[in-house]
Amino acid sequence: MRVTLFGATGLLGQELVPALRGVELTTLSSRDADLRDPARVEEVIGNSRPDWIILAAAYTDVDGCEKNRELAFAVNHQGAINVARAARAVGARLMFLSSDYVFDGVKSSPYETADSRNPLSVYGETKARAEEALLEMLPGVCIVRTSWLFGHGGKCFPATILRLAATKAEGGAPQLSVVNDQRGSPTFAPDLASAIVRLVEKDAGGIVHATNSGDCTWYDFAKEIVKTSGLTATIKPVTTAEFPRPARRPANSILSPASLHAYGIQMPPWQDALRRYLEKTPVP
Ligand SMILES: NC(=O)c1ccc[n+]([C@@H]2O[C@H](COP(=O)([O-])OP(=O)(O)OC[C@H]3O[C@@H](n4cnc5c(N)ncnc54)[C@H](OP(=O)(O)O)[C@@H]3O)[C@@H](O)[C@H]2O)c1
Repeated sequence: MRVTLFGATGLLGQELVPALRGVELTTLSSRDADLRDPARVEEVIGNSRPDWIILAAAYTDVDGCEKNRELAFAVNHQGAINVARAARAVGARLMFLSSDYVFDGVKSSPYETADSRNPLSVYGETKARAEEALLEMLPGVCIVRTSWLFGHGGKCFPATILRLAATKAEGGAPQLSVVNDQRGSPTFAPDLASAIVRLVEKDAGGIVHATNSGDCTWYDFAKEIVKTSGLTATIKPVTTAEFPRPARRPANSILSPASLHAYGIQMPPWQDALRRYLEKTPVP
């Protein structure tokens, strides 16, 4: 089997590369092929002739997208369309990585795959519009929505908490304020990479929700990071209103695992994933 991976240098992409050992893999960064360049996208896909294309490349700076709306749409929406067009030309299957931020968060239970999209942010809007366009262009597309990604291959929430907890400790009683009114599911990049490989093996199609199991608020997540790593920082719960950011985020973005379970795939609890992440992360 031949697989072409866009976003091979990202947090998820770096875990997909080893997880995809055994397939003939073409790995691409933005330097190899910018999603905004349709001719280049067509060329790399024409050259690699993949059975599957995994589109894990995106402009992922959620707050940055608010300021750079045009760039966000060019990469995440038009870029995805460019890849879908090239996939269609060579008859390749496409897996598109999407986000819990396509939802508005007002639902009081986990989001099912068929729930309506109503993004609150530009980033969420780019993903929602890309999903709609791809489903229309390629009815067999597989859309994998994930959330709160963390891992060793780049910036992520646990790394930030560890750094702040260690830095602030130098100045005396360390205390970090973390929002306690946004709930979701942290997802460890290697666990998501394994689930993606199994979805490819199972020839999955349609929308699939793939996150580590269980849910928490960012405050709960931070407390667990500090506790498990043996640091002494105090975590203070705050509201989103007290901690304003450029992009609005959903209060609830828990994704129901029913669509993943339908393929016989289970993902471990997020606390277990965090423990495995911390085992390989030196405390700063
Ligand atoms: N991070 C999260 O919490 C989260 C949550 C839900 C969904 N997702 C989705 O999951 C996927 C993987 O996210 P991630 O966190 O692994 O992303 P990431 O670490 O930010 O990596 C982004 C990747 O996209 C590539 N890229 C950026 N702009 C590009 C462009 N114009 N043309 C081609 N490639 C470009 C980057 O290449 P360079 O290294 O060359 O810049 C890099 O490989 C994305 O679709 C993201 O939207 C992420």
